[in-house]
Amino acid sequence: MNLTEHLATIDWSFPNLSNSGIHSLHWYPATYVAAIPGTLIPAFTQKNDVILDPFNGSGTTGVEAIRLGRKFIGIDTNPIALLMSEAKLYFPEPKTLKKQIDFIVEESEGLFGRAEVDPHPHHDELKAWYHPDTLFTLNRILTSIIKTDNLQIRKCLLAIFSGILKNASSQGRHWGWVCDNVKPKPFEIISKDALSIFLNAANEYVKLTELSHKAVQVHVEAETRKQTRARYKLLAGDCVTNMKSIKSEYVDFIVTSPPYYGVADYIKSQRLSYLWFDKDELAPERLGFRDFEKLRSFESGARSNRTRKNSHETYMKFIAAFFEQSFRVLKQGSSMALVVGESQARASTTDELIAAAQGQGFTLALRKERDIKLSRRRLMAKVKCEDILIFIKN
Ligand SMILES: C[S@@+](CC[C@H](N)C(=O)[O-])C[C@H]1O[C@@H](n2cnc3c(N)ncnc32)[C@H](O)[C@@H]1O
Repeated sequence: MNLTEHLATIDWSFPNLSNSGIHSLHWYPATYVAAIPGTLIPAFTQKNDVILDPFNGSGTTGVEAIRLGRKFIGIDTNPIALLMSEAKLYFPEPKTLKKQIDFIVEESEGLFGRAEVDPHPHHDELKAWYHPDTLFTLNRILTSIIKTDNLQIRKCLLAIFSGILKNASSQGRHWGWVCDNVKPKPFEIISKDALSIFLNAANEYVKLTELSHKAVQVHVEAETRKQTRARYKLLAGDCVTNMKSIKSEYVDFIVTSPPYYGVADYIKSQRLSYLWFDKDELAPERLGFRDFEKLRSFESGARSNRTRKNSHETYMKFIAAFFEQSFRVLKQGSSMALVVGESQARASTTDELIAAAQGQGFTLALRKERDIKLSRRRLMAKVKCEDILIFIKN
């Protein structure tokens, strides 16, 4: 049985698996199950090979690539997606991290007298999402995080903070409501213990990042954190533009899930983080609301753009440019695996994607349908089905 025949026998639905461990750090729309890259990467690559995910999202591919001892390049237009990915891949020193968490708790509890903290610049808008007490504490926590000198630790703490914002808000329905800017009704506003929520998430992160690094060492014995960190690179911005800076024939395998046409809004889904991070001190990190519309303009296939004239043509043009770059950066004989889906409204998208990839020189080696778990369907109500596609550059 050759590799393609073997891959055809696998049930790619992985019905009993969901992403846990370090992935519980932060919610993100339309993530794929880690078992997909976790199965494909060993099948197509060797240790130290370069894996590329041009639509990095929450970093699922990166976690698997690094765990398996490969090198990884991830690209995404959404800085919050990269922030959570960085926190999953950086493996901070537990001692330094814990010290900083203690400092934040001390400052936020005000054990040694409560220092004055300026109100958040978006206080009025945030008031619509949070109880005043919760808002007050979150603002203190964020102010303390910003004081963290070590940039990487600061990013990890920002990712933890970002990951609790929905839970600490008074919007009790799922993330889709936040994405669509549906604020809780005034009578739904309830106080949440923001400090406990943050502390629980931070302690959980300390534990999970350690376990995650241990998992790396199963495949790359005795590798230090520093060595592991040197194996990944995260690039912000449009993937077609970023891929142009990658040398031809540099990549051993691409595994990714592009944004499905008209199904999700990735930047909008993180609107609470963008609101909170819109502070002068964080401006260089471009995580703030002032960049919101600009960032949205780089996002391909966004649901909110689906009614725009020519939106599908624009999407397909982008996809063709993406395939062109994918073909160029891949080594001869290497493969690209895609998880793709189509909405009921645009039922021919997968066939069009296949034709576009073939138009750039790829050969389709496998197309296999996968069943979307019910929980995921609820959030992506319009997705009818998904396929795994494997292409070869030969
Ligand atoms: C289906 S999600 C990927 C999810 C990922 N596999 C995971 O498990 O988290 C698609 C991603 O593509 C990103 N994206 C949209 N347009 C992009 C573009 N032009 N260049 C790079 N990334 C883009 C979105 O921000 C989103 O994170």
